[in-house]
Amino acid sequence: MSTENGDEVNVLQLTLHGRLVGYLAGFSNGRNVLSFAGEFTGDPGRPTFSLITHPNFPRAEKILSAPWARNQRLHPVLSNLLPEGSLRELIAQGLKVHIDNEFHIFSYLGEDLPGALVAAPMEPDDVPDSVLTTHGKAKAVKFKKGDQQNKFSLAGVQMKFSMKEKEGRYNLSKDDALGDWIIKTPSTKHKNVPLNEYTAMSLAAMAGVDIPEIKLVELDKLDNLPQINLPDEKQAFAIKRFDRLEDTRIHMEDFAQILVKYPHEKYDSANYEQIGRVIYGYSGDGLTDVQQLARRLLANILLANGDAHLKNWSLLYRDQMTPRLSPAYDIVTTGVYIEDERQYALNLGKTKAWYAVTAANFVSWADKADIPWRVIKPHLDDVMDKARALWPRALKDLPMDEAHKEKLKNHWSNLQQDFKIAAD
Ligand SMILES: Nc1ncnc2c1ncn2[C@@H]1O[C@H](COP(=O)(O)OP(=O)(O)OP(=O)(O)O)[C@@H](O)[C@H]1O
Ligand SMILES: [Mg+2]
Repeated sequence: MSTENGDEVNVLQLTLHGRLVGYLAGFSNGRNVLSFAGEFTGDPGRPTFSLITHPNFPRAEKILSAPWARNQRLHPVLSNLLPEGSLRELIAQGLKVHIDNEFHIFSYLGEDLPGALVAAPMEPDDVPDSVLTTHGKAKAVKFKKGDQQNKFSLAGVQMKFSMKEKEGRYNLSKDDALGDWIIKTPSTKHKNVPLNEYTAMSLAAMAGVDIPEIKLVELDKLDNLPQINLPDEKQAFAIKRFDRLEDTRIHMEDFAQILVKYPHEKYDSANYEQIGRVIYGYSGDGLTDVQQLARRLLANILLANGDAHLKNWSLLYRDQMTPRLSPAYDIVTTGVYIEDERQYALNLGKTKAWYAVTAANFVSWADKADIPWRVIKPHLDDVMDKARALWPRALKDLPMDEAHKEKLKNHWSNLQQDFKIAAD
């Protein structure tokens, strides 16, 4: 290939916890190439950039040995760090670039990405020659300065902001300060989503699902929000970021990244067996984490969350290297919004059907993921005990829209005997 001969290229330096990972080159024809630095690939104690680059991952060395090249879209490990929906549109509009120009958007958001990766624009003179000669000889050029407002990236479809909390007010930081809360503003499309998410997450926690701190925040406590359309609702859903700790970053990645899928493949390219197998095989505490995974899978079914797709599961690298299942997020009773929704997101023991799934599907899930059933069963039993004992009463006091509560109780009554919950 010599199409980039004499082409101009912008180069980003990628670092994790201050250590060099490599260089991402963006050519003017849309081609982008990530080359790893020798000091990264050669270091057996390197911080984990993705599970697929972890020294214990069987093909890591091979995967790191050649540059990762793509066109227009970035490689999935990077592409999944970008917003998908309205936030992406807002940012692309501000930058006056096409929403598919991922290199440009990424270079703009590179200082505040999900997890701990930092992508910083390089001065042309600092770009190593090896980066410029991956495909013919290219010429490094300076980045154009942008002065747009939203300089954070958060994945997902819904509008959301990374904000810094101070004395009960939340600020969209304009300087270099990192946000420590994700604020999901109410939707103009679906009613009372923040109340729904707050309720579903609270119920999940009662059944032993590990969740971050959550809150409902009055909209008038949010400072510096850009002009966005808001419905006539008073509160936003707030969740504490587990990839930020004071001013430091903790690396994480979602299962679309781990399985090297693009965001648009999040519903149809994998199943819960694959997620179970990866967690059991690679987590620093595989047993605890698959037990937690099983709890969440069941809680999602009970809560009529049809959206637990690949991007709603993540690994967190608290010690910079070792993967652990991250706390849960984005548990919403989606069944109340989607007329006749009858399925959860990915196959579990060959079914996605809420009203057909039984304990037998979990047995088959554990079997296919090579997880002993005896370590899983007590956790599912405990979820059922807690949900049956606590949820009907708790739901009365939680702030979910009354019509949504009725739909959730109706969902409970339609589940198979193994999972049915009697609501008063
Ligand atoms: N508490 C948290 N700490 C750190 N990162 C988080 C947290 N909650 C969510 N995230 C990250 O932000 C992304 C978007 O959040 P979330 O899934 O809640 O949004 P969404 O727009 O509703 O997603 P979807 O597109 O699945 O509907 C997640 O995919 C995850 O990467
Ligand atoms: Mg999500």
